Order: sequence, then C-alpha cells, then structure tokens
Amino acid sequence: MSGPREPTGPELERMSRGELVDLGNALDGVRVVSDEPAPASVDVRGERRSRRRVTLLLLLSLLCAAAFAWAYLFWPTGYVPAGAPGHTAYLLYTPLLGVTFFGAVGALGAAMILYVRSFYPEEVAVQQLEKGPSAERDRFTAAAALAEAGHSTGFGRRSMIRRLGLTGLGALGILGGLVAVGGLVRDPWKARGDAPLWTTGWKPTGGEPVFLRVATGDPHEIRKLRPEDVEVNGMITVVPFREGERGDVEALHAAEMAPDSPVMLIRLPAGAPVRPAPGRADFGWGDHYAFSKICTHLGCPASLYDAGLQIALCPCHQSQFKISEGARPIFGPAARPLPQLPITVDADGFLVARGDFADPVGPSFWEIRRGRH
Ligand code: FES
Repeated sequence: MSGPREPTGPELERMSRGELVDLGNALDGVRVVSDEPAPASVDVRGERRSRRRVTLLLLLSLLCAAAFAWAYLFWPTGYVPAGAPGHTAYLLYTPLLGVTFFGAVGALGAAMILYVRSFYPEEVAVQQLEKGPSAERDRFTAAAALAEAGHSTGFGRRSMIRRLGLTGLGALGILGGLVAVGGLVRDPWKARGDAPLWTTGWKPTGGEPVFLRVATGDPHEIRKLRPEDVEVNGMITVVPFREGERGDVEALHAAEMAPDSPVMLIRLPAGAPVRPAPGRADFGWGDHYAFSKICTHLGCPASLYDAGLQIALCPCHQSQFKISEGARPIFGPAARPLPQLPITVDADGFLVARGDFADPVGPSFWEIRRGRH
C-alpha cells in the first residue's frame, strides 16, 4: 500500500499546523468520516452559556477544595460524647471531608466533560493500528494534532477557563499533598505529658478510682471484678470504669471502644515463678497481672493466651509475649513488651488501676524514646 511521500526534516519544520495534521492522518492511515464544528462555535448564545457554566463549575471545585483543606486542618476531631457541646461538630467531621472532596473532584470532572461536549469539534475518524515505536514524523504530527485540538476548542483563547482549569488541577494536587503531609501539620504533642499517645482511659482523674470492668460490649452491664472472679490460669479482657460514668451509656461505650482500653487480666497459678520487668515488681496484685491487649508490633489484639506456657500470642504476625516475665517479646516482630497496668484492690475488694500504663500502648512511634515531659 503506497502512502504519502516521506517529508524531510526542513519540510516538516516549514509545514503549517493544518498541513501537519493532514499529513499525520495520511501517514497514520486515519480516515476522517465526519467532522462537525463544536456546538458552541455555531451558537454564540450557547457558547456564552457553556462558558459561564464551566466557569461556575471550576469556581465550585476551587471552593470545595479550599473547604476540604480548611476542614482537614482546623475542624475539631477529638471525641465528644452525645449531649456534650461539640458532639454535632464531632459527628460532622468525616461527612464534611467526604462532601468537600467529592465537590472538588466532581465539579472539576463535570467542568471538563461540559467543556469537551461544548467546545470540541465532533469528529469521527477510523484508523488502522500498527505495532512498534513511533517514527520522528509521527511525533511531529501527533504534537500538531494535539495543538490543533487545543486551538480548535479555543482552550488557549479562553483565558478565564484555562486559568481556572489549571488552578483546579493545581488545587487537586495540593489536596493530595495535604492528605499526605496533613498529619505532620498538627502537633500531637501539644498536651505534653498528657498527649494522647502517652495517656489512656486508665489514667486516674480527679481522685476517682478506675475499676477493672469486664468487657461485655454492653454499656448497660457493669461487672467490676474481684481477684477471686478470675480462675487460676484464666484470662479476662477488662476495660476502665469509673463510678461517675455509671448510667452514662455514651461514656461507657466510649471507654470500652477506645483503642487503647483493652487489658488482659491474667491469673497465674499460685507460686508460679515470675520475673517482673525492672521497677515493676509491685505492678501485679497477688498472682494477678494486667497487660495491654494491643500488640506493640502493629496493634492487633495479642490475646490468644496459652496458660500452660504463660504466653500471649498475637495472631497477626505471631509475636509472642512471656506474661510471667513482664510480657517481654520472645518471638516474632514485636520489639517491646506489652505495657503493664499497675493494679491493686480497693477497700471493698475490687480490682482497681493504680495509675496509667508506664509505657505507651500499641505500635511504637518516632518520639517514643523521648519519653513524657
Ligand atoms: S500486630 Fe502483632 S505481631 Fe504484628
């Protein structure tokens, strides 16, 4: 099959954009079946209407992007129980991020679709495709075809739309960057020694004792524990409970659902050899020991308890913790012991926490060696 004559380099340089497009079509075996002008180019009022709509959509996209960034950085995110001031704002955080992000992306997409439908010529072309890399002439003609498309849609002339479109794309890029670095903008250490990574719901506040309550998942069921409630070799999952929260379903639910709340209360056999961690000899009570249930590797519940070996196993990556030796890791990827909760028994015989965990709960983080200050 004979094609058009192969043009030389200087000839390519001299050809107009239209000639290059025709040449490209001929060289690529592209046959233009129909070529209708863009709807907006034959209807002046329609063109204005489309331009206005595209502009409005791009403005909406920008507004939503700005609102997303603002909400992501400044909206209060701390848990607020039902009935307390700020609860509605707390509930609205995630929906707000979803709506503004969808608005930014959706409006930008709608603007692009509307622009193409209104300002793009309606061309139908047929091409035989071949395998292999593109020749130099193909690269020239492809670039010309793209430039021609930009010219015929008027994208270069409509500076308002061009600028808004590019700004919208830029805003989307910034949104992506914000999500990536947003966590670094907030200061997790604002509360210093009381920062969330240092403290848990076990921390006593206002002198109120924190009891060990059986985790039942039902905020209406309050079961405080006495030492004799735990069988020898038994393990019970407990969460913090304060008498001031009795009847407060939201507070009880929040205390139970907090990711750093679950604790394994374990009763070793009487006289079992125990090697507590340095400085933690008085953290247990009798044969009872309490350790965070949250694996120090990646935060799975490490609560498969082998009473015979006195080992807690994390099912995620098989880390094992020797309970009788301060829950130190003896196998697997975890590098820190499970944090121990100091416990005692109050005047009525109930088990209570003597304080918060001495170490941060869950996976390690950069500042963990810095310690509280
Ligand atoms: S999360 Fe427990 S071993 Fe990985």
